[in-house]
Order: sequence, then C-alpha cells, then structure tokens
Amino acid sequence: MSLVIRNGEIVTPNERYVADIFCEDETITRIGTHLEVPNECKTVDATGKYVFPGFIDPHVHIYLPFMGTSAKDTHETASRAALVGGTTTFVEMICPSREEKPREAFELWLGKAEGTSACDFSFHMGVTRYGESTESELREIVSRGVSSFKVFLAYKGAFGVSDEELYRTLSLAKSLGVITTAHCENADLIQQLQMRLLSEGKTGPEWHYWSRPPVVEAEGVHHLMTFARMTGAHVYVVHLSCAEALREAIRAAAEGVNVWVETLIQYLLLDRTDAEKPNFEGAKAVMSPPLRDKRNQDVLWNGLRKGFISTLATDHAPFDFATQKVMGRDDFTKIPNGIPSLEDRINLYYTYGVKRARIDLHQFVETASTQTAKLFGLFPRKGTIQLGSDADLVVYDPDYRGTISSRTHQMNLDYNSFEGFEIEGRPHVVTVRGQIAVRDGKFVGENGRGRFLQRQPNHFAT
Ligand code: URP
Ligand code: ZN
Ligand code: ZN
Repeated sequence: MSLVIRNGEIVTPNERYVADIFCEDETITRIGTHLEVPNECKTVDATGKYVFPGFIDPHVHIYLPFMGTSAKDTHETASRAALVGGTTTFVEMICPSREEKPREAFELWLGKAEGTSACDFSFHMGVTRYGESTESELREIVSRGVSSFKVFLAYKGAFGVSDEELYRTLSLAKSLGVITTAHCENADLIQQLQMRLLSEGKTGPEWHYWSRPPVVEAEGVHHLMTFARMTGAHVYVVHLSCAEALREAIRAAAEGVNVWVETLIQYLLLDRTDAEKPNFEGAKAVMSPPLRDKRNQDVLWNGLRKGFISTLATDHAPFDFATQKVMGRDDFTKIPNGIPSLEDRINLYYTYGVKRARIDLHQFVETASTQTAKLFGLFPRKGTIQLGSDADLVVYDPDYRGTISSRTHQMNLDYNSFEGFEIEGRPHVVTVRGQIAVRDGKFVGENGRGRFLQRQPNHFAT
C-alpha cells in the first residue's frame, strides 16, 4: 500500500519547502520533487496547503474516574475528535485511585485504548500512592514502554501525593531515567481556601479561581523545583497557567534544574471572566489550575515563542454540563474539573497563534508536535517529516474558514467552551501511519487501528 502527497509546503521546526512525500505502508520512504510512484499509489494533492507532522497532545484524560463521576469520551470518540483536529498521537494520564495497584491500572487503561483508538497513543503512569510494591510495579511498567510518570501535588485525598511519596517517586524516576510530569498546586492551601470561601457562602463557579489563585500554583511549582533539585530528577510542569508559576520554573531552570513546561490552549484564549458567567454557565470554564486574568496570556504566548514553554497541550477532560458539571451547582468544589479541547487545539493555535503573528509556523510545529516527541521518547518516529518516520501527516488548508460549535464537534460532550470562535484553517487530510483517517473534516479512519507506542527511558530533550 502506498500514498503520495504532492506539492505541499512541508513545515518542520527548522525547514519549510515544497516537495512530494511518498509513503510505503506505514513509513515515509521518499521526499523530493516530481517523484515517480507506482500506478496503484493513492494521491493527495496538497498544492497551496501545508504539510505538518502529525500533531501530538502530551496531556489528555479519556478514561478518568474523577470527582464522583467519569469523563465522557471513550477512546473511540476521543481519537476521532483528535484526528479530525489534526492530532495523530496523544499521551493519556493513567490516574489510579490510591487503592488501585499501578500494574492493574496500567492494564485497565491499556485495555480500554487498545482495539478502540483510531490514533496512536501512549501513557504517563500516574503515581498516586507510594506503597510497598510500588517500586517493583513501576519498574515493570517502565519496562513495558511507559517512560514517564505523573504526580499530582493537588487533589488532596484523591490523586495527591505526600512529600515523602513525591521524593520517592522522583528518586526512582531519576534512577530509571524517566521524566516525571506534575500537576503543581499546593493542596493544603486549596483546601483551606475552599473551606473559607464556602463558609462565607461563596459557592458559585466564580469562586473556584479564588480557591486556587496564582500564588497557590507558583508555590506548587516552587515545591516541585525543590524536590527536583534534591533528587536530580527530570520534571515537566503540566498545564502551567500564569506568570507567577512560570517565573518559578524559569528561575529553577537557570539554576540547573531539569525542568520543562507545558501550557494549554485554554489558558491562551480563555480567561477568568469565562468562569464568572451567570446562571452557572461559568461551570463550563472550571478547570484546575483555573483560567487566569487576561494579562497572563501574553506571558504564555511569549513563553512559547521564546522557548521557556516547550509544549502546547489540552488536558482534555470532558464532563457534560447538564448531568456532570451540575453536580457542583451549590458548591463549586464539586464541579468536575476540566475544559475539553482535544479537537480544537490545533485550529485554535494556528488561527490565534500563527495567523495573529504571535508565533511562527516553525514554533507552531515545534510546540504542538516535535518537542513532545523529543521529550517523551517518540522522536524521530513521530514529530517530524523525514525518511523512516511514521507517515503521520496533516495536510492543512489555510484557506478554510469556520466556527467552532458543539453542534458539529466530534467530542462526546454537550457543550464547547470555544463555542463561536472563528477558525482560519483546518486539516484537509490526516494520515495515521500511511492510511487516510480524515478528509475535509470527516473521520474516514478505522477505530482500533491506533497502536500503543512503547517508549524507552532517557530520551529527554536537550
Ligand atoms: O481541571 C483539570 N485540569 N482536570 C483534569 C485533571 C487534571 O488536573 O489534570
Ligand atoms: Zn492536573
Ligand atoms: Zn490533566
């Protein structure tokens, strides 16, 4: 089986040129002009379009039992949404409860994705407790191809770890050459602030922000930096939302701490006022860390442009408004946290980043694909367009114009936080390992074709 993509403008972090790409079976085998191909070869005309490496989302939740409910997407619906939006690989967080054994959790999450996902996938292994068997179980999970951990400094009593558990996790990660991703907010401060707000009768979604102000996140990042410094572990701050937190990471990096930073499309385009909308509408914009004051958006865009922030993710965590967000109608601490955007990340990032000249095309590809592949051991199989790489390609139409709406999205969700946002571009064709999975906004791929990507340790970006 072969496929040729003709005359597209290929864009990687350091190159931009017009050429044909020839894919044999699952792999890119030739790049050049006027390529001669077999008669039976499928052809995609990419004239006037960009060809990007398949985008990678380094932080999603699909199977997620959380806050008394469970996230709405399945691997089928989420992978379709991802592909339609140009994301050909995602890395899902395995989030076991404190009672669940890591090995059982790994099997559970893997079993849910295998045979259902239409795109390739990998996992970060959540460490939510450090007990007697944790070390041996984590060693086994790493040997099976999961070369990154996840810890939560927030969510006390649920996923959150103690300082002892954090220290032991990072020490093990260091010895295994595994990178640890971390949700950085101080859990005790949140708990105290939540109790104070509720006791004052402040129960609406607009108070979520005040239970987790920037200083709570900055303290979380500072805390992680201290532990990373003491253990020498490589760490990755997930969903960083504000200037105060970024300052902590940059300072630590300048002092030699091995830290990388991720931000989200939500923090670049939405802000605190979205969670202040009346009639409980604000609940649609409740996530943690919370949406911030608008002034932070320029700081995050600058961080992406200058390389202080390495990756742009979604932290996709879908909970329906009518049946799930509503659980917190009388108490904002019970609103399931999450703002889904797996489907819209790339079109929004292109429109409000590249088209508005906040980032260039190379920075776009680097932060939405290549850097994730490098940090998490997927490069050069994923994240680039070169001979031998998987033929995960996004033929992108910069002339497309459309509007985001829950009426037309693929995500299994009754609202879209980006409802009404204009987009100026979308994937025309998306391929997964040489097979066309999307054409003009329609999923034409195969559920279950997605493959679990095993990753080796010691692949940190330099
Ligand atoms: O609000 C969020 N971020 N929900 C998903 C869980 C997490 O903290 O990543
Ligand atoms: Zn988180
Ligand atoms: Zn998350």
